[in-house]
Amino acid sequence: MLFSVRDGLDESSPYEIERCASFSRKGFALDKRSTIITFSEKYSRREPIVVVTAYDYPQALAADAAGVDAILVGDSVANNILGRPDTLSMTMEEMIHHTKAVSAGVKRAMVIGDMPFMSYQGGAREALKNAARFLKEAGAQAVKLEWGVDTLEAVRLMDGNGIPVMGHIGFTPQHLNRFGGYRMQGKGSKAVTELVKSAKALEKAGAFAFVIELVPDEVGKRITKAVHIPTIGIGAGPYCSGQVQVLNDLAGMNPGFRPKHAKAYADVYSVLKDAVQRYAGEVRSGKFPEKP
Ligand code: KIV
Repeated sequence: MLFSVRDGLDESSPYEIERCASFSRKGFALDKRSTIITFSEKYSRREPIVVVTAYDYPQALAADAAGVDAILVGDSVANNILGRPDTLSMTMEEMIHHTKAVSAGVKRAMVIGDMPFMSYQGGAREALKNAARFLKEAGAQAVKLEWGVDTLEAVRLMDGNGIPVMGHIGFTPQHLNRFGGYRMQGKGSKAVTELVKSAKALEKAGAFAFVIELVPDEVGKRITKAVHIPTIGIGAGPYCSGQVQVLNDLAGMNPGFRPKHAKAYADVYSVLKDAVQRYAGEVRSGKFPEKP
């Protein structure tokens, strides 16, 4: 369905006004945006919520056109696009850069910017300032941050100041060194109790949803039952309120790497390699460019 370019427009946001004007100049019509209200409505109707990562403009165009509810500009851009061993080196400048590229390609899905390591652990005021940059400079509508000792205060301050926050519990990649590797969490009753406690605390602090990563299916179910906000699982089983997957994994873009919880719906790496091989072959044989 097509809507006016001003539908749902935040008149106070110069970014939104420019974005709408630009779509309108290009002849696009703006679909209605998915927001945290979409999340809570789908949650109430028990409709699965679909989230996918995207890291650049073409990925964002495809994900948005596919009709997902939200696009997470994950700090996993480090592993999936930048070829780094983990997410710890990501900076605010790099995350803003990728989030801007994604926002430029999205008309309908909610864009969630992932706060990088040490951008929210140094005090709630600094966290708030950094979170605001995702909305003011990069066109995101929400941010995500991982569980840690300072998380709750930061969530309260952001939510209270109009920045929707998604939490992240279970395996939190920024704690990789503390976990001693990419390991399943929530094993044993003490660990499960702690996870349920964190989940309830996030809900109370004002998070609109949270990711649960790498926990047994039954633990994903137990956490989901314990709260009244959507849980978005990745490697957390089928009982969460929604799922998030890394686009590179589901599109088959990283050869030789497929996490256990991921399913490849395409083999984009082979498609790209084949295109480049055919191009190279035609240049070498003189078939491309064609002679007039
Ligand atoms: O950075 C990321 O991609 C994430 C998802 C795995 C949830 O945090």
